[in-house]
Parts: sequence; structure tokens; C-alpha cells
Amino acid sequence: MNGTASLLSGALSERTGAVRLDDVVLRTGTRRILDDLVREFRGQGQLRACGIRRRSKLIFHGPPGCGKTLTALALANSLALPLYVVRFDAVVGSYLGQTATHLRQLFQFAESACCVLLFDEIDALGKRRGSPSDVGELDRIVIALMQELELSQIPGFVVATSNLPGSLDDALWRRFDLALRFSAPTKVEVTRFTRTKAKSFNVPLTKMLLANTSRLQSYADIEKAVEDAARRAALRDL
Ligand SMILES: Nc1ncnc2c1ncn2[C@@H]1O[C@H](COP(=O)(O)OP(=O)(O)O)[C@@H](O)[C@H]1O
Ligand SMILES: [Mg+2]
Repeated sequence: MNGTASLLSGALSERTGAVRLDDVVLRTGTRRILDDLVREFRGQGQLRACGIRRRSKLIFHGPPGCGKTLTALALANSLALPLYVVRFDAVVGSYLGQTATHLRQLFQFAESACCVLLFDEIDALGKRRGSPSDVGELDRIVIALMQELELSQIPGFVVATSNLPGSLDDALWRRFDLALRFSAPTKVEVTRFTRTKAKSFNVPLTKMLLANTSRLQSYADIEKAVEDAARRAALRDL
């Protein structure tokens, strides 16, 4: 295996799962934009003929457990593209310039293979430059990432996610074609999602379950609470 192949095999892991955009609770506006992106991808020939650029570099931001990673997978499925998640530990090298080289190789891969390349929780790489805890290497990583985002022409998509958009460098932020905000569920959405999950886990929608989930602030936590209830119900007679 040559250097690039071994980097790619260590730094990318394919994520699969039969999730569709319809399975993700999304605000109407967010869903509309995602549908637009799918349409742009399918109609890219027409766009090109009109001299219009397709949007391909996306950042999803918002609190944890609200569907950013899930949406990246659902989007890839809608596009019938494989989703590759970047493993940061394998990208960040200990030698000077190594990380930039690795990033270049990752983007070269994304230029040659039509896929969705996911930089999940990019805060790990894209911390604000010049912050007190900063080290020189971090600066270089962010600069290299910005250059790749700016210069690469990718046939698929690059998606980054961030739980802490405030910690991302403004200049990095600007390199994305589109920033999509994911929100925590409202009270109404909490109740609705509890009901949906109770149905799918086959547990009764009790007052207690609704009370338990009412104070939760993410879809992931609600799902966990309903699953806990289902687990308890399944073992009730033991
Ligand atoms: N908006 C949502 N709609 C449906 N399920 C969700 C949603 N957000 C989170 N979940 C559930 O919680 C899990 C974790 O969500 P994830 O997408 O990883 O959150 P994030 O990336 O925003 O931290 C998902 O796999 C899914 O089961
Ligand atoms: Mg995530």
C-alpha cells in the first residue's frame, strides 16, 4: 500500500445506514435547502451550462444531538453517494507540514471519487486562530483546511459539522458555500418526537414518559430516554 492509500484507509471510515431525509426531524426551511442541494447535484449539468456554480461545501452547526451527523448520512443516501467520515487523529501528523499533506490527500481523494466527505465536529481542527491556547501547528492546520476548501473542485460534497460555531475561525467559516443551522427541539417538537419514538420502540406514551422527556434538549437524549423506557418494559417481569 502506498502512503496515500494507507493514509486514506486509516483516515476515512465509511458510514452506512438506511436513514432518509424523511427520517430526520428538520425545520421546514432546512429541509427545503437540503432538497435544493439534491436538485442542484442532479441538475449540475444544467447549472454548468448556465455558468452557475453548484454548492458543495456545507457546514452544519448547532447543539449536539440535534441531527447534524444523521443529516449528513441522510443527504448522502439521497444523493446515492458513499459517506466517508474523516478521522482527525489519523490526519493530524506530528511532523511539520504533515497535517497539510494529509488534508491535501483527503481532498484529492474527494476530487477523484464522488462522495460525501464528512469532517464531523470540525471544532477539533478549526479552532479560532490566535486564541490563547493556540499553538502554531493549529494555525497551519486551519490555513491548510481553508486552502483546500477554497481551491478544490469536488464532484460530491464536503460537509463539516460543529457543535461550537463560536470557536471556529471566521475565515474558515466563510470558505463554506452554505451554513445550515440545526436547532434544539421546541416543547412541541419534544412531545411529537417522544410520541414518534414511543411508537417505534413500541412503548406506551405514558404521562411519566412525557414528563421525563419534557426537560430534554436534544433529539438524541429523547431517543435515549424512550429506549430506556422500552428496555425497562421489556425486563419488567424479571
Ligand atoms: N433531528 C433529528 N431527527 C431524528 N433523530 C435525531 C435527530 N437528531 C438526533 N437524532 C437521533 O440522535 C442520534 C444522534 O444525533 P446526531 O445526528 O449524531 O447529532 P449531532 O451530530 O447533531 O450531535 C441520531 O442518530 C438519531 O438517532
Ligand atoms: Mg454529530
